[in-house]
Amino acid sequence: MHIPVLLQETINYLDPKENENFIDATLGQAGHSQEILKRNGPSGKILGIEQDKKILKITTNILKDLGYEKRIILINDNFVNLKEIVKKENFTKVKGIIMDLGVSSWHFEESNRGFTFLKDEPLIMTLDERKNPNAKEIINSWSQKDLERIFIDFGQERFSKRIAENIVLKRKIQPIETTFELIEIIKKSVPRSYEKGRINPATRIFMALRIAVNEELKNLENALPQSIDILEKGGKLIVISFHSLEDRIVKNIFKTQQKQGIVKILTKKPVEAGSEELKINQRSRSAKLRVIQKII
Ligand SMILES: C[S@@+](CC[C@H](N)C(=O)[O-])C[C@H]1O[C@@H](n2cnc3c(N)ncnc32)[C@H](O)[C@@H]1O
Repeated sequence: MHIPVLLQETINYLDPKENENFIDATLGQAGHSQEILKRNGPSGKILGIEQDKKILKITTNILKDLGYEKRIILINDNFVNLKEIVKKENFTKVKGIIMDLGVSSWHFEESNRGFTFLKDEPLIMTLDERKNPNAKEIINSWSQKDLERIFIDFGQERFSKRIAENIVLKRKIQPIETTFELIEIIKKSVPRSYEKGRINPATRIFMALRIAVNEELKNLENALPQSIDILEKGGKLIVISFHSLEDRIVKNIFKTQQKQGIVKILTKKPVEAGSEELKINQRSRSAKLRVIQKII
C-alpha cells in the first residue's frame, strides 16, 4: 500500500491556497498531489510529471475517479526536461514544486522489474521502460572496472571489487538474469559476518544499480536549477531524498543558490519523519526533506 512520505510537512511548507499552481515532478501515485488538489481549487492546477508509463496510467485513473482530471496536467516524461515541459504546456505562476525522489512502493511491490531483493524477478530496474541499458544489460556487459566504479560511487559498498569480480566470473558461464542470481553472487562475495549486519548485503548493490540505470543523480543535478528558475518569486521547492548522495546534491545546490541571493533556505537541517510516521511507513526511515523559497 502507498503512504506518501512526510505528507503533512510537505503541505505545511507548500501551504497551497485557492487557485494556485504547483508542479509535482515525481507524481507516482499522486499522494502529495491529491492533498494539494484538495486545497488549490476551484481553478488552481498541478503539472504532474512521471517517467513511468505504467504507474502514470494507474494514477490517471485514480485522479479521474476523484474528479481531478480537469485540474491536473499529466506528463509522461523525465523531470530532467522540466523547463521544456513547462514551456510546452505554457504552465505559469508556479507557487511550489515538489520532488519526492526515487521509486514508489508500487515499484517494489508490483512492477516485477527487480527493484526488490526480496523477490525473484527479472533484473530490469528501469523507471522509463524505453531506457537503455537496463540492469541486466549493465550486469552482463559492463567491464569489471565500470561495475566496481558504480558499486563504489553509488553504493559505497566495501566489497565492490570482489562483487564485480565474481559477477564477471559468473557471467562467463551464463548470463545473470534475475535478482536472486545476483544476490547469490553478492552473498558469496562478502564475509558471513557482513551478511548478519544491520542491512542486507544486497541493499547497496541494488541501490547502485538502480541509480546507474536511471541516471538518478545526474538528472537531479540538472533538474534542481531548472526548478528554481521556474518558480515565481516567493515560490517554494521541496525535495525529499532517500540517501546521502541525493541529499548532498540537494544541500549543495541550495547553498550555492542561497549564496547567489536567489533563494532562502527554509530548513537549516533536513526535516525527518516523526515517531508516528516511522511506525507506519518503513520508507520514511531514510527520508530527508529540504525546502527553499525563491526570493527574487
Ligand atoms: C517516491 S515516488 C513519488 C510518490 C508520490 N509523491 C506519491 O505520494 O505518490 C517517486 C516517483 O517519481 C518517479 N520518478 C523518479 N525519478 C523521476 C524523474 N527523473 N522524472 C520523472 N519521474 C520520476 C518514479 O517513477 C516514482 O513513481
